Amino acid sequence: MKKIILTLSLLLFACNQDTKEKLVVYQSPTCGCCSGWVSNMEQNGFDVEAIKTDDMYNTKVNAGIDMSLSSCHTGFISGYFIEGHVPHDAITKLLDEKPDIKGITVPGMPSGINVPGMEVSNERAKFDVLAVNNDGSTFIWKRYE
Ligand code: CU
Ligand code: CU
Repeated sequence: MKKIILTLSLLLFACNQDTKEKLVVYQSPTCGCCSGWVSNMEQNGFDVEAIKTDDMYNTKVNAGIDMSLSSCHTGFISGYFIEGHVPHDAITKLLDEKPDIKGITVPGMPSGINVPGMEVSNERAKFDVLAVNNDGSTFIWKRYE
């Protein structure tokens, strides 16, 4: 009996490992706010693999992220890019809805208590997570205030 329970729990463990997709994040080794964002994603249940690179520019170019829509770190999950300080619930919405887009971004670097990794002020920031269509056009994915 013990053996069966052990086998079952190992199987369950293996299934969980398979269904949970990694959030792979490229970040500059010298940037602190990116690590702050990574910790926030981990606290919210994401399995993050953080990769340090000095070539963030080409990481973004290769992902098809226009510089006008760029921020510091660049993440990837389920074939989408996650650019900058995107809150975890905007990523969950993306994984739930699976739209035909390239990715989502918070361009630049807003700061506020509601911006993961950029909680450098006590005030809430008003910002939008933008969805980037395959043709490069954007629409508001989720609004925060
Ligand atoms: Cu940043
Ligand atoms: Cu950063």
